[in-house]
Order: sequence, then C-alpha cells, then structure tokens
Amino acid sequence: MADQAPLSLDYSYLLPEVTPEEIASWQPHVQLAHEQLVKRTGQGADFLGWLEPAAIMPAEQLAAITATAARLREEAEVMVVIGIGGSYLGARTVIEALGAPGEMPVLYAGHTLSADYTAHLLQVLEQKRFCINVVSKSGTTTEPAIAFRLLRDLLIRKVGKEKARELIVATTDPEKGALRGGVKKEGYTSFPIPANVGGRYSVFTAVGMLPIAFAGIDVQAMLDGATACAEGCASPELKANPAYVYAVVRNLLYRKGKTIELLAFFEPRLHYLAEWWKQLYGESEGKSLMGLFPASVEFTTDLHSMGQWIQQGQRTIFETFIDIAGGMPSVTIPTDPENADGLNFIAGKSVDEVNRRAFEGTALAHRDGGVPSMNLTLPELSPKSLGSLLYFFERACGMSGYLLGVNPFNQPGVESYKKNMFALMNKPGFEAQAAEVAAAVQDRQGKHTVMF
Ligand code: PA5
Repeated sequence: MADQAPLSLDYSYLLPEVTPEEIASWQPHVQLAHEQLVKRTGQGADFLGWLEPAAIMPAEQLAAITATAARLREEAEVMVVIGIGGSYLGARTVIEALGAPGEMPVLYAGHTLSADYTAHLLQVLEQKRFCINVVSKSGTTTEPAIAFRLLRDLLIRKVGKEKARELIVATTDPEKGALRGGVKKEGYTSFPIPANVGGRYSVFTAVGMLPIAFAGIDVQAMLDGATACAEGCASPELKANPAYVYAVVRNLLYRKGKTIELLAFFEPRLHYLAEWWKQLYGESEGKSLMGLFPASVEFTTDLHSMGQWIQQGQRTIFETFIDIAGGMPSVTIPTDPENADGLNFIAGKSVDEVNRRAFEGTALAHRDGGVPSMNLTLPELSPKSLGSLLYFFERACGMSGYLLGVNPFNQPGVESYKKNMFALMNKPGFEAQAAEVAAAVQDRQGKHTVMF
C-alpha cells in the first residue's frame, strides 16, 4: 500500500456561506455517485479507466516509455509534442511545473491554428535536432493533423525519410483512427491511449508520460503520487475523502449563486496546471445549460489587476487556492542602509516568506470581502505531489459532475465550431451545410461596424 497522498484540503474559509454540517448532509448523494463511479454504472461509464492509474499505465508500458524517452534524448535535443486539449495539456502542466526554468526540452505544436506561431516554430526547428511525439486519440483532429504534416515534412527534409521514422512516436488509439493507420504504414514507435480514458483524464497514460519522461521528470514518482491519492480518496465517506469534499463544496456554492470558481495560486509555474484544470472542469461540467465557470488567477501578479474585481466586484465567485507549503529556493532580501523604499523591516527575510504572508493576507481579505475559499495544500512541488494533485482533481471532477447531474466524460458541444469550420472549407461530407453556413457568416459579418 502506497503512502497517504501528500495533500490536504482546508475549508475553514467557507463559513458562513457553507457550514461543515451542510457538507456532511450531502453524504447520501455522495454515496450514490461514488457507487456509480466505482461500479461503473453512471453516465459515461465506459470512460472510467483513469480511476486506477496503475491499471492504465502498467509497469512494462512505463518501462517501454522511459526507454523510448531515453533513446529520443540521445538522438534529439528537443521534442515537439503535437496535440491539443487533453492530448497536450497534461504533459505541459507537469513539464512547466517541474522542468528546469529556461531549459524546456519540449516544444508544442498542433494546439493552435496561428500561422504566426507555426511559422516561428518551423523557423526555430530548422536549427534544432528534434523529434516528434504526435498525440491524438481520434487521429483526425484538425489542428494536430495540420501540424503533423508540416513538422513531418520538415523532419524528413532535415534527416531523410528513414531517420525521420525513428524520430516520430505516435500516441493514439490502440486499434483505430488515421494515426494508427500511419503507425501501421510507416512503422513508427507507438503507444496506446486506452479506449476507456478520455483526453482530459489521460495524463497518466502515454499521452502525458512520454513527453514528461523526455523532459527528465520522474514519471514513476508521479504515478506513485497518483496511486497514493487514488487510495487516499477511495472512501465514500466525506470525512475521509478530500476530493469528494471539494466536489460537494463546488456544487453547494454553485447552488448558492457562486457561479465562477477561481483557481488561485502564488507560483507562476502553475500556469498550465490552471489551463489543464479549466479544461477538465469546463469540458466535464459545462453542459445542459449548467456548470461552474472555471477561471484562474496568478497571484500576486493578478492582485494588481483582477484583485480589485475579486475584492469588491459582483459576489458570484469563490476561490480555490493551491498552496505549495515548502521546498522553494531561498532568496534573501538585502538590507539597504538608505532604506529609501522603507523595506528594511523585511530585510533578511526570504522572498518566499513574503509570498506566504501575501497569500495569508489575500485569503483573509477576500474572505472578508465576501469570497469564500478553500486551500489545497501540497507539501512541495514534486513529481509525487503533482501526481497526487492531478489525480485529486480528476477524482473530484468525476464526483462533481455526477452530483451536478451531467455526464462528466463527454464533450458534445465542441463539435459545433468544427461543423461550421468544415462546412466553410468544403470538407467532403459537409457539402450539404456549406451554402447555409457561408450565408449565415456572410449575413452577420461586418453588418454593424464602427471605424475611426
Ligand atoms: O478531453 C478531450 O477529450 C479533448 O480535449 C481531446 O483531448 C482533444 O479534443 C483532442 O482530441 P484527439 O486526441 O482525438 O486529437
């Protein structure tokens, strides 16, 4: 049995909006949803593979992933991860949180259709020895498919067709899809995305593990952290399960008119954690005209911009703070004999201590201003604690979606823009809608314009 997950949830700052008794009163709903999750009888039950991280990342596959990562590190100085949404955000979250600053051996493509970004990336890669990890479960997503064409062509031009084959690794559906077809035809090394794991729950599959291993981060420790959290959050009892408490609180506050959740943190390295979290909760819960709007703020930076709104704006928000309790480098504030800035009262203290006091002061001020909050504390930023945190959010999201009454494992709404885009580009199969969509765009675009 793994150690207890190194993570704790403090919900003292929810009062008076939410009381511990109110949270406890949701136990019957939680019990029901828990059974639906673990017995796989609820909505989207075919996509619950992520519940057991060790089952979706067996030891022999992890060994093959780390061996491939080691081979690629020998042959390339940079890996380009091609993917979008759940097929890229998990890897980026971990690499940006734990990688050496300024030395990111992983670049990203296929998460945007920006010609500017793409042109710049192609220019940078001209000068680099690079390999490609193309990640797409369906294998047909437009953004990564375009990026793969471009980068594969560049790689072939630089190293030749044979060598390029060795430098491309595909992570995709084990059986079907366009990318699997490419693997069969070209003989690329490949890793499977299990059929029972959706993109945004896939960080502990090869989707996350290969790029993270390439970045030199301990993937086994991450997986251990996830497993520890899975065990620590296995109980249906609210008093023993912080992930379920978090899920209940979100639903309680939502019903009380707090319709926006702010993920707030004081470490810029967590920027992509927030992006991953927004996708996880936004795609999982934003349906049937319901769902909290997940947003994020980076403090103290955003205290000087969004801080005003949070302190005194519309009272429709609550905050979830991510607190990294220790492990920060020691940077001491020097004494200045002239003390012109009046800062000698903190001379000798570390920047991290000031950051901590800022955190405490912020949480208190926001609570006093009518913003309830929770603290999710990690002992330090490490592969193990981050593995635990990611699993914590996945587990809580499954529970939260079921408590809300939606299927947290599908995303039917994301098809709408694609249908219009394909119709506008005359994609085969969309000819019938082409004229209608083009006319609708024509009808609205530029009708009411102000110029100077
Ligand atoms: O969470 C999801 O399912 C989505 O964000 C997908 O990961 C994303 O759309 C990419 O899909 P695919 O892996 O099929 O290219």
